[in-house]
Amino acid sequence: MTPQFAVFGHPVAHSLSPHIHARFGRQFGLDVDYHAIDAAPADFVRMLGEFRDGGGIGANVTLPLKEAAFALCRSQGERARRAGAVNTLIRDGKDWHGENTDGIGLVNDLAGRHGLDLREWRTLLLGAGGAARGVAPALLDAGIGELTIVNRTPARADALADALGEPARVLTRCWADLPRLGDFDLIVNATSAAHAGVMPELHGGLANRRSAAVDLGYGEVAIGFLAWARAAGCLIAVNGLGMLVEQAAESFRLWHGQRPDTDPVFAELQARQRVPRTAD
Ligand code: ATR
Repeated sequence: MTPQFAVFGHPVAHSLSPHIHARFGRQFGLDVDYHAIDAAPADFVRMLGEFRDGGGIGANVTLPLKEAAFALCRSQGERARRAGAVNTLIRDGKDWHGENTDGIGLVNDLAGRHGLDLREWRTLLLGAGGAARGVAPALLDAGIGELTIVNRTPARADALADALGEPARVLTRCWADLPRLGDFDLIVNATSAAHAGVMPELHGGLANRRSAAVDLGYGEVAIGFLAWARAAGCLIAVNGLGMLVEQAAESFRLWHGQRPDTDPVFAELQARQRVPRTAD
């Protein structure tokens, strides 16, 4: 049976992952069979079982299935456990092992591609949903300074801070507190507000002339936040395309044991900037 790879999501038709993995495979002479599978949450477990029985040995998982993927795994890597979410499934006999490569993807993009040394950076994380959970552990591991989590629903920010287990470094604040928080070195937009056509209310004082801002989405959904970041004077304002390619490379390495060169794939995607929804 030919080994199969896939990305599960709902919706998932616009995912760039099949293209990225085909490009990576070509670097090693591999004809990677990787396709997108649209699975509504209620159908996910059944469809993943069918995928496995048809030769599936590795899968990515995107919105809104990352927490469900975490729950169904027989074992999880440390990053996945701290995130409470899985974006990479690795076949383990009849079962699945789960990893999360989102956070390391973001850090590799910021540190590798953009040359940022994140150590001691005062960081603001907007949002406390699945996307925020995915990246927070890796940001802490990268040595950032204080991490302030701000979420529309404060209880969710508190739950994320509790899960991260670093009370000396991680604190939560309400959205209404933002004007009193001073400026940040790194501002990460992990909210899904733009998917509903909304731009969360932010003010210019959050950024300084050295700040970097990153939106975890790319294409149209990132435009509003990045426009705010530039207007607020951020030195660097990037979308989630680089993170997408980097997390894919980490997944590829876990499945195939070789790390692809991400630069040509990133350059190609950036040049054509299709306009799908989010980092999956
Ligand atoms: P994802 O996996 O994309 O993170 P999610 O788990 O549904 O999706 O989380 C969406 C995040 O965007 C949450 O932090 C959400 O805030 P709430 O926890 O209060 O729902 C945030 N969000 C969504 N719409 C928003 C808006 N209009 N303004 C601010 N935050 C918003």
